[in-house]
Amino acid sequence: MDDQQFRQLLNRFGFSWSGYRKVRKGVKKRITKHMNALGCYNITTYLAELDKSDEVRKKCELLLTVSISRFFRDREFWKSLEKKYLPDLIDKNIEKINVWSAGCACGDEVYSFKIVWDCLRNSLGHLPKLEVIATDINPVYLEKACAGIYSSSSLKEVTEELQSTYFIKKKGKKRFEVNALLKKDVIWKTHHLLSDPPESKFDIIFLRNNVLTYYEDLLKKKAFRKILDSLAPYGFLIIGSHESLPFEPKDLIAIAPHSFVFRKEAE
Ligand SMILES: C[S@@+](CC[C@H](N)C(=O)[O-])C[C@H]1O[C@@H](n2cnc3c(N)ncnc32)[C@H](O)[C@@H]1O
Repeated sequence: MDDQQFRQLLNRFGFSWSGYRKVRKGVKKRITKHMNALGCYNITTYLAELDKSDEVRKKCELLLTVSISRFFRDREFWKSLEKKYLPDLIDKNIEKINVWSAGCACGDEVYSFKIVWDCLRNSLGHLPKLEVIATDINPVYLEKACAGIYSSSSLKEVTEELQSTYFIKKKGKKRFEVNALLKKDVIWKTHHLLSDPPESKFDIIFLRNNVLTYYEDLLKKKAFRKILDSLAPYGFLIIGSHESLPFEPKDLIAIAPHSFVFRKEAE
């Protein structure tokens, strides 16, 4: 599949050409395999198949998802989350903290959060109740997230101390399973970010490296509006460190030193 054909496919879904820049090769390979399995040997017949069948279209959409992630991606942010952002939220005397990891892939981000939460419990003693909802469009990623087993490359930013506390090395393999404690209080759900958000107001929403990277402006705005509505007053929205908002909402303020962390002002 050449670039021109891949572009046609991305346009069909409203995906961004530049967003796929670094992952184009691998994604094209997956799509070509799907095309061959369907007996489509050019993009025109493949696009026609997508129009004919919702199932084929859905499969193709999933093949276009990219699950690249790792524990403590944007390491400095996680330190500030533990030392500043979470203590600030807890100071507001909230009884329960609701967290949404939107587009969570295989769970690295979710378990990173749970590690920070547990470290905070050890330093502060008492914490509010916690509920984490972790959603993704791709059920295969969610199954992996639920299992909580990772290769050493996902853990490259995890300190040895945290590794020995929160991970169990699988016998004979370079794979690590997260401690059962981290799996508690997490609800994993399939969810499309263009549909209505889970019913709750969230104190923290992670919206990192998914729609704001891979979608064209129109869809970015559509998804972003819905997500914003579900952010609680004083709640934090965290986007990817290389991403920007599709528009600047009046009630969101960027929190220095992280230009990708925003807090919603009180209503
Ligand atoms: C690159 S991973 C990012 C994982 C994690 N948030 C991080 O920053 O490390 C992007 C994830 O977003 C998911 N995704 C993409 N589009 C989505 C959509 N419309 N609805 C829900 N999830 C989506 C993909 O399936 C993938 O698992």
